[in-house]
Amino acid sequence: MVGKKIILAVTGSIAAYKAAQLVRLLVKKGAEVQVLMTPSATEFITPLTLSTLSKKPVFTQVISGQEWNSHVELGLWADALVVAPATANSLAKLAQGICDNIVSAVYLSARCPVFIAPAMDLDMWKHPATLANVQRLKSYGNHFLPVGYGELASGLVGEGRMAEPEEIVAFLEGFFQKKQDFSGKNVLITAGPTYEAIDPVRFIGNRSSGKMGVAIAEQFAARGAAVTLVLGPSKLAPQHPGITTVRVESAKQMYEASVQHFENADIAVLSAAVADYRPANVAEQKIKKKGDSMTIELEKTPDIAASLGKMKRRGQFIVGFALETNDELQNASEKLAKKNFDFIVLNSLQDAGAGFNFDTNKITILHRGNKRKDFELKSKAEVATDIVDEVSRLVG
Ligand code: C5P
Repeated sequence: MVGKKIILAVTGSIAAYKAAQLVRLLVKKGAEVQVLMTPSATEFITPLTLSTLSKKPVFTQVISGQEWNSHVELGLWADALVVAPATANSLAKLAQGICDNIVSAVYLSARCPVFIAPAMDLDMWKHPATLANVQRLKSYGNHFLPVGYGELASGLVGEGRMAEPEEIVAFLEGFFQKKQDFSGKNVLITAGPTYEAIDPVRFIGNRSSGKMGVAIAEQFAARGAAVTLVLGPSKLAPQHPGITTVRVESAKQMYEASVQHFENADIAVLSAAVADYRPANVAEQKIKKKGDSMTIELEKTPDIAASLGKMKRRGQFIVGFALETNDELQNASEKLAKKNFDFIVLNSLQDAGAGFNFDTNKITILHRGNKRKDFELKSKAEVATDIVDEVSRLVG
């Protein structure tokens, strides 16, 4: 990002407060950032905050007093225009070519690539009008950052959260590096938890969110790979066109899908938290309460990683994961050998901020021969970049 000229256009969503962090990250990476704001964005965060962080005046109008902030010059100056957050209203204006403020005017004048990070309430995001605007903007060649799922400012839970600033920066870096080092490669990724049915109502599951695996899928796809993501029950819905998501529930379904897709895979990254045991018998009807205790007999699930490790042909590459609570390196090193991985990514539940459901992770990459690389606590998007860089280095 060093020396890259970035226009950050902030529109009037509550997510505008995240623009401060985005400016800070971009500046830290060496980019020159010119902030533009719509008038309603200034209601959410002050131009002073963003001009202090960007070390440049912020423009909020095309004409302010006697000043003419040339949208044409700005549009020609930038290496990238990032609209973050982009409201439903701004998306509609950009899609229709309305230019009644500095953001929409610069958008029409810009010759550089445009990146849009929408942020809005779930019903606005799902509305056919918004979907049509997004489609239209995509057809003009604009790049969209996927929206996140979670609690929204309204208190409702759903899709519509702005991509995190770290994810936006990682996306931009991927674009500028123009690293297409996985183009032509097929990548299989397992992610998320599995649910093992006890009866039609209950299951045995775990706390995996699937965030790490989805971040890895997005990183591979951004770098040109055709990704098959075999995803256990997760709220996440990856949107990169290079990702085909196969949704599964149980370890058995994940096993079947993985074995099928491994045939054509050059690289497999097995980040799923697969149940090791499942109920030996699944009751057809809901089990009734009786007695003070009950026993469920469990049987082993197929070990997907070990099976793919056995199937591995010359030229195929497998990355495994190990989430450990104790004797981390010893356990990870044993799994690396036993499951025939090429390297294993270790995260310890001992590390604060690492593991299930966090947006951050702290990993160690362990190679055969016990060579290891320790990484700092980072966002999962950045961790994904580190892991994919390591695969790139070894696959060549
Ligand atoms: O043995 P453990 O479950 O700790 O091994 C972790 C690695 O093995 C991870 O890469 C995980 O995705 C994979 N695994 C699997 N199928 C299983 C159990 C684990 O693919 N049934």
